[in-house]
Amino acid sequence: MCGIVGYIGRRNGADIVLSGLSALEYRGYDSAGIALLDETGEATLLKQLGRVAGLQKLIDETTLQKTPLAIGHTRWATHGKPSVVNAHPHSNADQTIFVVHNGIIENYVELREWLGKEGYHFASETDTETIPHLIDYYYKKTSNFEEAFVSAIKEIRGAYAILACSTMAPDKLFAARLSSPMVIGVNKDECIVASDPSAILQHTKEVVYVQDNEMAVIEKGSYRLVDLAHDKQVQRETEHLDFDINQANLGDFPHFMLKEIFEAPQTIRLASLGRSNASTGTVKLGGLESVADQLRYIDRIVIVACGTSYYAGLVGEYLLEEITGIPVEVQLASEFKYRNEPFSRSTALLAISQSGETADTIAALQKVQDYGVLRLGIVNAVGSTIARMTDAGVYCHAGPEQAVASTKAFIAQVVVLLLISLKLSKNGDNLYQPLLEEIEALPGKAQQILDQAPAIERIAKKYKKYRDFLFIGRGYSFPCALEGALKLKEVSYIHAEGYAAGEMKHGPLAMIDKDFPTFALATSGPLLEKTCSNIQEIKARGGVVVAVATEGDKLVAKHADDVIYIPKSLEQTEPILEAIVMQLFSYYVATAKDLDVDRPRNLAKSVTVE
Ligand code: M6R
Repeated sequence: MCGIVGYIGRRNGADIVLSGLSALEYRGYDSAGIALLDETGEATLLKQLGRVAGLQKLIDETTLQKTPLAIGHTRWATHGKPSVVNAHPHSNADQTIFVVHNGIIENYVELREWLGKEGYHFASETDTETIPHLIDYYYKKTSNFEEAFVSAIKEIRGAYAILACSTMAPDKLFAARLSSPMVIGVNKDECIVASDPSAILQHTKEVVYVQDNEMAVIEKGSYRLVDLAHDKQVQRETEHLDFDINQANLGDFPHFMLKEIFEAPQTIRLASLGRSNASTGTVKLGGLESVADQLRYIDRIVIVACGTSYYAGLVGEYLLEEITGIPVEVQLASEFKYRNEPFSRSTALLAISQSGETADTIAALQKVQDYGVLRLGIVNAVGSTIARMTDAGVYCHAGPEQAVASTKAFIAQVVVLLLISLKLSKNGDNLYQPLLEEIEALPGKAQQILDQAPAIERIAKKYKKYRDFLFIGRGYSFPCALEGALKLKEVSYIHAEGYAAGEMKHGPLAMIDKDFPTFALATSGPLLEKTCSNIQEIKARGGVVVAVATEGDKLVAKHADDVIYIPKSLEQTEPILEAIVMQLFSYYVATAKDLDVDRPRNLAKSVTVE
């Protein structure tokens, strides 16, 4: 989704902002823009549709030399279509105030009406454009830019990360946040501000996060934070971000999605490293130690998440219930936040999110903030909003995930859910030791699947021509089938639906014919024969079947048209291996169709608006 980068310092702000925006490109966007102040405090505003690279061309066409201050933005359209006029930065009429914004201004219609009556004209259809006009309105009353900025922010309702600059205060950047991330990177003589630390890390790892209802006044190498609810200064030191910037590079892979799928063995290792040990029979989750006492009294867990994280949560439901005996419910965060349901203090809310910035998941956590319940998180992005707003949690340690389609994060989330289940099982479960041993065997098994990538690619190419796909599975493979369908549809634009295999006769069988293939998860286990019956029913109706089966199995190949084999594992850990197969399958179908697999149309990596 939208990305913000700003710079103030002695270097050329245009270069730093453009490289920061490029680092955020993976999030998805449709237009980009930059406002630059040169050494004399003169402003230049440049905007365009399409990629960040085009902005460099626009800058090259100007006579600009050095720009010690710059703010830039990549926009993913919400209010108003993608267009140059709707792109950020937005400005006041005489182009002395510039604003970039992530989020939504909920009261923008009434603000526009009011400002309209005050003589302000709007060029764009965006909610954002109200902000520079509002600041302008208050500046005309006070002639103090900081006061005008604060007054404007106090008028706004919604969710936002806002960064502003002005020719009236050419040595400062002004930032404010509410429910949308904003981080300041601090170096000697310079600061870089961004909506995501990955835009900053190539310059500094010393960062400070702006919190909700705060504003920041940022100068060369220093910052001042103000709590806007209480109009008082806030003291907060910088923190050191532990993040390997090389992980964010493509290396020899053609796409981030493939690179991230191939990181599966390492992902499993990193998610379990120092946490589980089969030889000592222990599971240690440092992130949960501070709430160990509360965890003893939890008698219900509600998991909230979106998209792939939601499907990982569904796998987690099976794991937690089977291994711990604690009842679990998984809810889509977008539904949870508007539902009225009983919620007791012995219920824990567990939010799962790769980015840690998903608006609906944040809203779900906010909803229970006054219930006195334990709020837990399984998050990949270190220091993200969800990681900071939960009482305790476990990081996925999957490293940055750049492709819009989530792959390695799903793997890490399921491993972490397994570890939490084992931790809460109090060692009493007879699955405890076998699962600990299996966790150690999984990286090798994941690698065996990756070694079959060329064969999976050959199969995927056969299926690129179809317009529809059904994904089926039973038991632990059912939520995994739902995730497989999501993966295929988002990267290949093939309509795909996930179903419990046992539901076939209750409706989906009606769709089956030679043009509607099925991807069947048919790995060995107590339900294999039943899944094989479903495959036969599909074949009997002229359907085509690609199946995932367990090495050594002879049954599935008798019925399916194509079979991909995975190493034998436990039922509880099979979703991890099946997911890798479906990720590769989806990737190769999409690339065979020549699609932009890392940035599928209409999608963004971090969904920071509702
Ligand atoms: O960052 P999150 O895990 O909270 O994101 C949730 C979904 O937006 C995300 O999983 C989305 O469904 C992916 N594109 C799926 O591949």
